[in-house]
Amino acid sequence: MMKARLIGTGSFVPKKILTNYDLEKMVETSDSWISTRTGIRQRRVAVEDSTSEMAAKAAKAALKAAGVSPKEIDLIIVGTVTPDMTFPSSACFVQSHLGVKSGAAAFDVSAACSGFLYALDIANKYIKSGSVQKALVIGADRFSRLVDWKDRSTCVLFGDGAGAVVLSAEKGNRGVLSSRIHSDGRHWEMLYADSPCPPSPFEKKGSGNHYLKMNGNETFKLAVRTMGSAIKEVMEETGLKPEDISLLIPHQANLRIINAARDRLKLAEEKVFTNLDKYGNTSAGSIPIALDEAVREGKVKDNDIILFVSFGGGLTWASAAVRW
Ligand code: UT7
Repeated sequence: MMKARLIGTGSFVPKKILTNYDLEKMVETSDSWISTRTGIRQRRVAVEDSTSEMAAKAAKAALKAAGVSPKEIDLIIVGTVTPDMTFPSSACFVQSHLGVKSGAAAFDVSAACSGFLYALDIANKYIKSGSVQKALVIGADRFSRLVDWKDRSTCVLFGDGAGAVVLSAEKGNRGVLSSRIHSDGRHWEMLYADSPCPPSPFEKKGSGNHYLKMNGNETFKLAVRTMGSAIKEVMEETGLKPEDISLLIPHQANLRIINAARDRLKLAEEKVFTNLDKYGNTSAGSIPIALDEAVREGKVKDNDIILFVSFGGGLTWASAAVRW
């Protein structure tokens, strides 16, 4: 059976840097509170780039790294909850920005911070079924549009950015070994953003406030539990042991969550990749941006076993194991 091999990565973050010190001037907070409680020191915010433009720039870099032409792409999936427009999808915009052939399939997946792993899971299944040869899988979000910049409990956490991988159908043992996606809609109120559209004249209740809202403490506890079990799920399915893992690339929400998941798995610190100090939580962008950095820093080698795990609004969670 064909495997979906990850043959190229790319990422893009906007130029504008917003440090914790900048935030001290905007809300009642401090660099020491933010860095101790989260590990975040700065984040990027988009001034000009829309979600689909960031996604296209990340995808262009991934195509270049893979040596693949946009004309060869059969499928584009963008994990995002901050599309440029309600419709068309960000994936259709990416198709247009990159010149991907007419007739390829393009759609978005809404799974918040798990968007990239949801997209990877779907693309993997298309490739394994034989209906797609090459796919672009992208995670991109522009949370600077969603957060209330007057709410210190959320605005310090998020940033903007996009990451992408090119998947190719190949024989052999390299590629996605296992991939799992999950959700529990009963907990939707723990982390959500209401519709930015005005209510219709027929509607009984419109919220009138589309800013992101989060129950941080409860989300934190569930994140620790769920990320640990999600990693174990793909390890059990593939028969992998902690010593087989070359690198764990977790969703970059909070260093304390990542460290707790690492402790549960008894993984050495150097086996867990983090970059949230520079970018904060970029939602669906977080894992593919981290993967691209790890690749470019030479931390990922042929045949390495890489694990991914995410957790986010929905609630959604997902994990994947890949042989590089
Ligand atoms: O990617 C999707 C998933 N999202 C997450 O995984 C986020 C999960 N949650 C978290 O990362 C953490 O819960 C937070 C970082 C959001 C909060 O950390 P915490 O250690 O759980 O703090 P807390 O909410 O319990 O707040 C402690 C105190 C409160 O003050 P009092 O009531 O103790 O006086 C807050 O009002 O810290 C206060 N506080 C702040 N102080 C300075 C909350 N935000 C800030 C702030 N600066 N930015």
